[in-house]
Amino acid sequence: MYFPVRSTGIIRRKVGDIQAVDGISLALPKGGSVGLVGESGCGKSTAGRAITRLYQPTAGSIEFEGRDLATISNRELKPLRREVQMIFQDPYSSLNPRHTVGSIVAAPLRIHNVVPKNQTLKRVQELLEVVGLNPEHYNRYPNEFSGGQRQRIGIARALALQPKVIVADEPVSALDVSIQAQVINLLQDLQREFDIAFLFIAHDLAVVRHFCPEIAVMYLGKIVEIGDRDSIYNNAHHPYTQALLSAVPDVKQAITGGRRERIQLTGDVPSPIDPPSGCRFRTRCPIAQEICSRHEPPLLQIGRRHKVACHFPGRLGEHPHAPLTAGLLGVDAEGRPDPGASPSSDLVEQPGYADTWFDLDKKSIGRA
Ligand SMILES: Nc1ncnc2c1ncn2[C@@H]1O[C@H](COP(=O)(O)OP(=O)(O)OP(=O)(O)O)[C@@H](O)[C@H]1O
Ligand code: SF4
Ligand SMILES: [Mg+2]
Repeated sequence: MYFPVRSTGIIRRKVGDIQAVDGISLALPKGGSVGLVGESGCGKSTAGRAITRLYQPTAGSIEFEGRDLATISNRELKPLRREVQMIFQDPYSSLNPRHTVGSIVAAPLRIHNVVPKNQTLKRVQELLEVVGLNPEHYNRYPNEFSGGQRQRIGIARALALQPKVIVADEPVSALDVSIQAQVINLLQDLQREFDIAFLFIAHDLAVVRHFCPEIAVMYLGKIVEIGDRDSIYNNAHHPYTQALLSAVPDVKQAITGGRRERIQLTGDVPSPIDPPSGCRFRTRCPIAQEICSRHEPPLLQIGRRHKVACHFPGRLGEHPHAPLTAGLLGVDAEGRPDPGASPSSDLVEQPGYADTWFDLDKKSIGRA
């Protein structure tokens, strides 16, 4: 998903692209949940908005039950919109202050004409009850509710059409910590009860830990690491994931008095208009080498359910000295073309996980 950058003046020519989301690839299982985590501005909301087709993606495909949502016509898209809903990041700005809660929750029902008019109120009250709000409050306005309650209204709106997929864009980050857990528990209950698949967006790894059995970590428009919970929390191989993890408070350690070393990332996130060459993380990466500026690391599957995009994947403190990807890319250790090498054609990044993967010890693709 690129956004055009235009010059100022009368003729606003396109002068570049904001590469907000650039070639991410993930699979959301039916009724399952995947977490999408990364710093502010890395493209999480843009990814969510493209997947729910609030944006028309500039390239790529969004496969849903055998159809490609990215390219189908608006007429074909309309019924599918019911199936893929979004909960928005900010419960304060995502609800129209001039509409009553009843009319906000009823809007999708009206637009898609799914319940007869005389039953709309009953359905709205059911939905309010499902999300833990008083069904009699349907004629109140959003400003009469707290942040947590407003987010529940947004959740009721997303549930109205009984979707199969919900993209929850930082549904709790605007809420007090004490309220966060309640809303997460509510989402978890709803997911189980209605068998909804969730793409759960968050900016830190602590929030998605209990909700998502699978987590993707994004940096500057790309997925840098994706894997099951255990691979990400206990066996992260990307320096960025390791830095994010070091920022997650560890209750056990706090009790025993130990302190986990915090990895401080220096410098700002670069602009997505002119991202660094090669690996986009290299300007802040503590272990970057020459090859990192020359070649983008492929997102390699390194375990049964674990993929990482780094030339030097390894546990914290155990990153290899020589790039593991050089042979695959057909380059030498500095990233210069190696005439004797044969680049691998197995680098095409597919969503989900394959049966074979890159063996970190053997430095070659094959079943580990
Ligand atoms: N409609 C738009 N037009 C132009 N640029 C946009 C648009 N939406 C997002 N961007 C840019 O795309 C990049 C990614 O933004 P996005 O909102 O997806 O980040 P995010 O990861 O959701 O951040 P946050 O955690 O702050 O919500 C940013 O550089 C942003 O400025
Ligand atoms: S590819 Fe290089 S710059 Fe990128 S994360 Fe790995 S070591 Fe760091
Ligand atoms: Mg966002």
